[in-house]
Amino acid sequence: MMHKLTRRILATRLNQLIFGAKLDVRESWEKTPADYKKMVDFLNWFDRTNSVEEAVERGRIDWSYRFASGRFYANVEKNTALEIGFGAGRLLMHAARDFKTAIRVDIHANYPMSEAFLASQGVNNARLLKRDELALLPDNSVEFVYSFIVFQHFDGLDEVEFYLNHISRLLAPQGIAQIYYGKRNADGIEVTTADRFKLRDCSLFIAPETMREIVSSRFELMDYRDNLARDAVANTGESVQAMVAFRNRLA
Ligand SMILES: C[S@@+](CC[C@H](N)C(=O)[O-])C[C@H]1O[C@@H](n2cnc3c(N)ncnc32)[C@H](O)[C@@H]1O
Repeated sequence: MMHKLTRRILATRLNQLIFGAKLDVRESWEKTPADYKKMVDFLNWFDRTNSVEEAVERGRIDWSYRFASGRFYANVEKNTALEIGFGAGRLLMHAARDFKTAIRVDIHANYPMSEAFLASQGVNNARLLKRDELALLPDNSVEFVYSFIVFQHFDGLDEVEFYLNHISRLLAPQGIAQIYYGKRNADGIEVTTADRFKLRDCSLFIAPETMREIVSSRFELMDYRDNLARDAVANTGESVQAMVAFRNRLA
């Protein structure tokens, strides 16, 4: 039987092809998760999985290989972490074991399912925020900001600017941000418009050099990777993402 998510992707695509319907990038990320009542369907929307156990394991692998083994992670003070675009929480559940508090921000309309998922994994030190509630967090209060398979789903560069502004304000003096973003294999920036956007596909692609310029214009660039393995364990394939790590310039 065809999977629920595959059916949904095909239906929206047909709607676009036959009726010329537009699919708003941000709205699709906001609204779709509210339709998922079964935990595995909910998890599968954010990162393909056939079971809760598989989602937890894939989260463990991404957390350990993409973040916890990073050059700066060991020395980061483990008070507060902030995840941008936490989805269900498959990465955050691992961050919550290392940090006293794990704050998460997203735009989707099914936070109760994420609460249920994290509770089922024994997480009780996570704080949930909507995008615009980031403004409630005090300055210099976060030691580690991270994001994985999220910036590539933004609907434009303004959203990158929005989060970079908050990161700048929120990072503690020695705090580190590590952000994965959608890589463009040509110069500059490319945004997928609503008439071409396919549900769940990437919509924002940034050339690594451009991303480094954007970051370096206001932060100290600490590390970057333009070429990443798709399969972090086997170290094979090519990821559609690149990575930058940075901190506020020391006074
Ligand atoms: C592919 S999922 C990845 C979720 C999670 N990072 C993970 O690895 O499981 C993309 C996530 O980005 C979120 N997202 C999309 N646009 C966003 C925005 N403007 N601000 C915050 N989160 C956003 C979506 O709601 C979704 O949770």
